[in-house]
Amino acid sequence: MNLIRCTAAQCEAMAAVHAEAFPASWRWDEFEDLLDGAGIYGFLASSDRDGAPLGVILCRVAAGEMEVLTIGVAHDARRRGVAKALIAAALPAARDLGASECFLEVAVDNDPAIALYEGLGFRRAGLRKAYYDRRPVGFVDALVMRLDLNAAPQ
Ligand SMILES: CC(C)(COP(=O)(O)OP(=O)(O)OC[C@H]1O[C@@H](n2cnc3c(N)ncnc32)[C@H](O)[C@@H]1OP(=O)(O)O)[C@@H](O)C(=O)NCCC(=O)NCCS
Repeated sequence: MNLIRCTAAQCEAMAAVHAEAFPASWRWDEFEDLLDGAGIYGFLASSDRDGAPLGVILCRVAAGEMEVLTIGVAHDARRRGVAKALIAAALPAARDLGASECFLEVAVDNDPAIALYEGLGFRRAGLRKAYYDRRPVGFVDALVMRLDLNAAPQ
């Protein structure tokens, strides 16, 4: 697996793999706009065999806090450590930008993602009621999870 820090050149691949991970995905130009934002950075994982994009993470650091804006891995590439590798790349980058803690939101019914984050040392820090709009099915609560970047492995 190759991991690269994203620039505008990766936005099409970021959007392509995001679309494989999420039903409501972000367009390439949305990634491009986001990457222009202060404190925003991302990593793209791709196959070292054929260069196919495998996963993406986008984060923001502001006021000493890192936030994971999105992380997604293509269906066929799951359970091979791609998300773990993306987070492992993103945490030191956040420390370099002055962050001492990381927060993210995850739907309460997203067992794979919760298992991923808990395995990496994230702890439950709160609940946002009706955070995700899944109409017509309804709304789903989000867990807020937190990782102390000073306590996490460097
Ligand atoms: C959640 C997601 C990013 C995980 O990506 P991944 O590359 O498959 O995760 P990894 O292979 O790095 O898994 C690391 C650990 O997370 C946990 N985990 C990941 N997927 C899991 C699953 N389906 N069931 C149980 N545990 C899981 C396991 O502990 C795993 O370690 P192991 O494989 O050694 O047991 C991926 O399933 C995904 O893209 N889902 C859709 C988008 C999404 O929900 N994003 C998160 C939004 S908050």
